[in-house]
Amino acid sequence: STPNAATGTSRDGFTSSFGVLAATLGSAVGLGNIWKFPYLTGTNGGASFLVVYIIATLLVGLPVMISEIMLGRKAKADAVTTFQKLAPAGQPWWLISASGVLAAFLIIAFYSEVAAWVFAYVFKAIGGAILSSDPKVTSAAFKTLISDPVQALLWQWLVLLLIGGILLLGVAKGIEAVTKKLMPLLFVLLLVVAVRSLMLPGAMKGVEFLLAPDFSRLSAGVVLTAVGLAFFKLSIGMGTMMTYGSYFRDNQNIPTTTLRVMGADLFVSMLAGLAIFPAVFAFGFAPGAGPSLLFITIPAVFASMPLGHVFMVVFFVLAAIASTGALLSLLEVPVSVMSGRLGISRKRATVINLLVLALIGSGCALSNSTLSGFTLFGKTLFDLFDFLTSNILLPLGGIFICLFVGYVWGLARLKQALSNEGALENGRLVRVLFVLVRFVSPLLILVVMLRGLGVL
Ligand code: PHE
Repeated sequence: STPNAATGTSRDGFTSSFGVLAATLGSAVGLGNIWKFPYLTGTNGGASFLVVYIIATLLVGLPVMISEIMLGRKAKADAVTTFQKLAPAGQPWWLISASGVLAAFLIIAFYSEVAAWVFAYVFKAIGGAILSSDPKVTSAAFKTLISDPVQALLWQWLVLLLIGGILLLGVAKGIEAVTKKLMPLLFVLLLVVAVRSLMLPGAMKGVEFLLAPDFSRLSAGVVLTAVGLAFFKLSIGMGTMMTYGSYFRDNQNIPTTTLRVMGADLFVSMLAGLAIFPAVFAFGFAPGAGPSLLFITIPAVFASMPLGHVFMVVFFVLAAIASTGALLSLLEVPVSVMSGRLGISRKRATVINLLVLALIGSGCALSNSTLSGFTLFGKTLFDLFDFLTSNILLPLGGIFICLFVGYVWGLARLKQALSNEGALENGRLVRVLFVLVRFVSPLLILVVMLRGLGVL
């Protein structure tokens, strides 16, 4: 941990280069790769969606992620304090982080429920309760789970308790130690399932679906979905990467780390696609099932293959692992802000946040039962929180982070911070980055947002 000159105390942080990578990748990799990416790719045209998504991660994701990590490491503070330290006095840039805290709450509210289903499915897969090749049976099993308010709430609170418990151990001993163990395991398990899926007769159709673009499916709405997914996937636009950046070591190469995380995250998404679509096509299922793909189609697909029982357990275990690393980083945002701003202990901040989240989260947990009739703007709370964060809050946060770095922070300080105060030389890359944050990324996000929302 880094000694804090001002207070003489030591600030908790990541302790090794591999730890930085594991934790940051642990945040990026999550249900975004295993639940959202496959079903969004499936419903938005396959490979053409993938192409737009990759362009979005490069033009928008890369600059925002580097900016966030850099600002966080510079300030070495929670996300709200970061802007108060770095922005000129009196300018309310900290509102970006306040909106980030709100986004964290909204995302955790629905994310913890999807994670709850995943954790429940690990046990159902082991017990064989969802082992049927008939989608009608797996669909009924899923509906039973999500429409039972008691099960929905209990599993969600269990997940929240698990995440809170890990956070209580701290940044190095909690987040870093856990992700260092889980991330390699996740890769191995996912590789095993993808290889199994690719060996099925008829698997090539699924590969084609993922790799042969059909651009007739593109529309402004689809492009906004891809940009929103890029933000959600890379955990950017809401202070997560800023918070983790504040735990980065001073000699960590930020651009290289960012590129590695982005590359590995895309690799995981592709592996998830290759684990899912070949099997879906091989057994004659439809790829465009939507959000229920993971919980209805996938069990039926696994039940259709030899040794499917084992692979189904492995698959849901790896999904549970993925959701853990992401949830840790989500909850760390409000926990660090609360303890940093109110000067209360990490423990107390974690407990308070968990209580609030159990309350907001239950709004999403009950979206399919008690509260299914309760809609705002025509959406259940679950769908509303998902839409609001990916399509509005995170992209807006991204725009303002770019504007801050491009117009307030400036090229000289960007160069200095990214070269680790002069230790590394990457002048050309920084200039490209500067053009991106000043002009390209904010404009692109704005246009995509307005068109996608039907305003432009
Ligand atoms: N990136 C995570 C995923 O894809 C979700 C997430 C979003 C985590 C925002 C932190 C912040 O599952």
